[in-house]
Amino acid sequence: MSKKILVLPGDGIGPEIVAQAIKVLQALQRNFGLDVELEHGLVGGSAYDAVGNPLPQETLVLAHESDAILLGAVGGPKWEPLDIALRPEKGLLGLRSELELFANLRPALLYPQLAGASTLRPEVVSGLDIMIVRELTGGIYFGRPRGVRKLETGEREGFNTLVYRESEVERIGRVAFEIARKRDRRVCSVDKANVLECTELWREVMQRVAGEYPDVELNHMYVDNAAMQLVKWPKQFDVMVTTNMFGDILSDAAAMLTGSIGMLPSASLDQDRKGMYEPIHGSAPDIAGKGVANPLATILSVAMMLRYSLEEPEMAERLERAVHQVLNDGLRTPDILSEGMREVGTEQMGDAVTAAIGEAA
Ligand code: IPM
Ligand code: MG
Repeated sequence: MSKKILVLPGDGIGPEIVAQAIKVLQALQRNFGLDVELEHGLVGGSAYDAVGNPLPQETLVLAHESDAILLGAVGGPKWEPLDIALRPEKGLLGLRSELELFANLRPALLYPQLAGASTLRPEVVSGLDIMIVRELTGGIYFGRPRGVRKLETGEREGFNTLVYRESEVERIGRVAFEIARKRDRRVCSVDKANVLECTELWREVMQRVAGEYPDVELNHMYVDNAAMQLVKWPKQFDVMVTTNMFGDILSDAAAMLTGSIGMLPSASLDQDRKGMYEPIHGSAPDIAGKGVANPLATILSVAMMLRYSLEEPEMAERLERAVHQVLNDGLRTPDILSEGMREVGTEQMGDAVTAAIGEAA
């Protein structure tokens, strides 16, 4: 039976980059018999504009019915004045939480062809291969109570709640340890256990989970130190596991080590490996519609989808090889451009990867 993919282009550069990922999926369908059906839906600011809701009920129903979701990006200055409940980001957070996509995998992988594009020295980043496992449906992003209240003095006070249940820490811990088993068998759990009780418990539970994985080494790091270590000597890390908000911040830092945030894909998985796949960069409103956005993070997100939700590891590898090939051929969008390389736009990059996928022998 064919698998259903829900495509949610979203806002800003979302539609342009997703269009390239669709080309790639269609080439895999045509040439290698990938058995998928694509459906389209609205999310984010564009959904708000069309129907007044960043996560329309119809999209949610389609999302529940699909095996995997491909998302472009959401957000933009146009929607910033809206009430927080109606902002584009609510569409994304709603999908994560409604579908229980608690495990967010954000690989920070340096393509050797792009070593010169990092702001760090090549010897610091060459060979970099980190997997950040970010908890995605709990923590301060979703904790209650939350809001802004008025005090007796008339002054207003904003508040959010950092909360994790043991079971939430356990399940994200297991995801991290399982992934580490397929890599270098090292997990670094990032917390702020010296200040926050919630993450003191996080640390204790991680320690307990580690007992189930004697073949994997666990160490702990406070988040401030982890941020420093990431820019000082990032190659010390294999798998990093952390809370929703720390993961948000550290994954942007890790992405930049690789030269461009335009290269990095992500997967957000539930307990049964149904997933939502998206580039980790945002909607980049400043370059939207100009045809210069880098589609590779979205295309690489399709590779993650093939691997984790569609059980097509060979097609995933084929797609990743195609990306390597276009980089070897010297094609570069402006964000990864360097001396002597050939500058191309979004469409050309998508076409080049599609061509590099090739045909079945
Ligand atoms: C991310 C983004 C989102 C987040 C925003 C758009 C809500 O920054 O996926 O990292 O904070 O999780
Ligand atoms: Mg972020």
